[in-house]
Amino acid sequence: MTAPASLPPITPPSPKQIGILNGPNLNLLGLREPEIYGSKRFEHYLHELRNLFPNVEILYKQSNHEGELIDQLHSWGFSLDGIVCNAAAYTHTSIALADAVRAIQAPVVEVHISDIRNRESYRQISYLRPYCVHHITGKGLAGYAEAIQHLIQG
Ligand code: DQA
Repeated sequence: MTAPASLPPITPPSPKQIGILNGPNLNLLGLREPEIYGSKRFEHYLHELRNLFPNVEILYKQSNHEGELIDQLHSWGFSLDGIVCNAAAYTHTSIALADAVRAIQAPVVEVHISDIRNRESYRQISYLRPYCVHHITGKGLAGYAEAIQHLIQG
């Protein structure tokens, strides 16, 4: 049976788009302090994440530069469905990054691989946290999967 001409065509829902933004020194995951951050390269984990969420388009950016991270938040922040952000050391120092998270529309989940609550006192402060919809710390790389799950459920 053919549909009447007046009905609009049925289009499948477009996949959710989630951006993962990693900050300084996270390009060295797998090499850097493996006793704290593990021995897996993020590129390998990204492959696993994409298999884990076949219906989500996962974009990825890592930068060691504060301004580039801010530019990426601006660029993703008005079009994507959500952002997973590990701002690394900028978490503890950058009001500019926190302002960018405040300024954008996309919900942001803050992730830390290590448990920053149980590390040096200067890691206890997160300037981003008040503007994030959720935060995950100390769950290793699995924290990124949990963050994506949170964003696609929400
Ligand atoms: C980190 C924790 C930060 O304190 C640190 O500067 C990092 C990584 C984490 O994922 O555990 O670079 O964000």
